[in-house]
Amino acid sequence: MTKELTTLSPFAEDVLNGLHTENKHLPSKYFYDAKGDELFQRIMHLNEYYLTRKELEIFQTHKEAILKAINGTETFRIIELGAGDGLKTKVLLKHFMEAKVDFTYTPVDISGNVLEILEGNLKDEIPGLKIESYEGDYFDALAEIAESPEKDIVFFLGSNVGNFTEKEAVAFLSKLQNFLKKGDLLFMGVDLKKDPSIILNAYNDSEGVTREFNLNLLDRINDELDANFNRNQFLHYPYYNPHTGECRSYLISKIDQVVEMMDEEIHFNAWEAIFMEISKKYDHKQLAHLAEASGFDFKQEFLDSESWFADVLWEK
Ligand code: AVI
Repeated sequence: MTKELTTLSPFAEDVLNGLHTENKHLPSKYFYDAKGDELFQRIMHLNEYYLTRKELEIFQTHKEAILKAINGTETFRIIELGAGDGLKTKVLLKHFMEAKVDFTYTPVDISGNVLEILEGNLKDEIPGLKIESYEGDYFDALAEIAESPEKDIVFFLGSNVGNFTEKEAVAFLSKLQNFLKKGDLLFMGVDLKKDPSIILNAYNDSEGVTREFNLNLLDRINDELDANFNRNQFLHYPYYNPHTGECRSYLISKIDQVVEMMDEEIHFNAWEAIFMEISKKYDHKQLAHLAEASGFDFKQEFLDSESWFADVLWEK
């Protein structure tokens, strides 16, 4: 590589490193620019993308049981990692307020804009809710806010944990666990193994929104990193492995081509793939292993009516 890595932004560095390796890959965390946020909002409303609907059903059906499992009567704080638009969380927050429990809601998000909108909405819709938001990286937030006498419950919803490999998930959750006190809880949304065609369709929707979501990262690289990807020369190919539970999305070069980026040339053979994203699905055995390997005890789990999705409650 010819570039001085120290002069590059983390985005440029990650993209160049990912495209200069033998098995090309791009980190899916870069999907979420303004256009990517918009596309993900559309994905969450697709019929084929059942995850959001199922988790909402779990909250609506089990809100009383969730509150009972979380608390008792003591004061607590909810720290939500990657709060987004809070659509689902709102169902629980409303119920907790109606039940007159004393708690604070701390949404953490990398986007100040997202947090501002969320705070505005929640203040209107749930008067009296105590909100203390934190803008920044998850672990910076936890380092700064975790030392408090009250009981903390970390919310990590929407199968966000699925965007890690199992090994990365153990590393992430172990690190998270280190910031918590004994008795603190993790409330986490996990997508479960099911009929493989249902899973595959969720990442290969008939309207092509997920395809756009993947191709948008090439557009973003063109715009921000002075590249010349021709999105028409790439094919969106998601693939589900029922054995591992991994759904992996790829963009595949349809032709032999050279893409220019920041004065460098990236060569693609015809049918060479870029690995874009993992969306891992768990079974109960894998989940038990994940809890144990990251230092948590299983406390309870809540399922939708078809057992497609789970929200697990683990205790430190
Ligand atoms: C954010 N994350 C949990 C989504 C998922 O299901 O892996 C992102 C996504 N990718 C394609 N569709 C949705």
